[in-house]
Amino acid sequence: MKLLKILLAAGLLVIGFAVNAEEIAVYRSPTCGCCEKWLAHLQENGFTIKDNITTDIQAIKTKYGVTPELASCHTAVINGYVIEGHVPADDINNLLKNKHKVVGLAVSGMPVGTPGMEMGGKKDAYDVVSFDHKNKPQVFNSYKGN
Ligand code: CU
Ligand code: CU
Repeated sequence: MKLLKILLAAGLLVIGFAVNAEEIAVYRSPTCGCCEKWLAHLQENGFTIKDNITTDIQAIKTKYGVTPELASCHTAVINGYVIEGHVPADDINNLLKNKHKVVGLAVSGMPVGTPGMEMGGKKDAYDVVSFDHKNKPQVFNSYKGN
């Protein structure tokens, strides 16, 4: 029994690691500084990044169904999910773990205080929304401002 428990624990560790080791493909413009800071946030949280620099980020947004109302600076794809803007790593992990039936997550615009948009201690209140191609975006997680 004890051995079984150890094996189970090891198995769970491997699964947990696999979720985080997922590669995230990021599309961003060459001049975007806050994009780089968001990438650093993902790296700190264990994500492997495939960085794609493009001068036509709008083409990527159109391809992945990111509407102007959802749009931010960068667009990313992980495990078939679209991640738009400065979405915190915890929310991406939640999406991957719980396999929500959505196209992806977005933080529209560039709220101050999101990962990669830190400006001292100032924080805007903002929502992470989930979206699909049919319904209105739904609130996935809310962050308080100060
Ligand atoms: Cu940005
Ligand atoms: Cu960006």
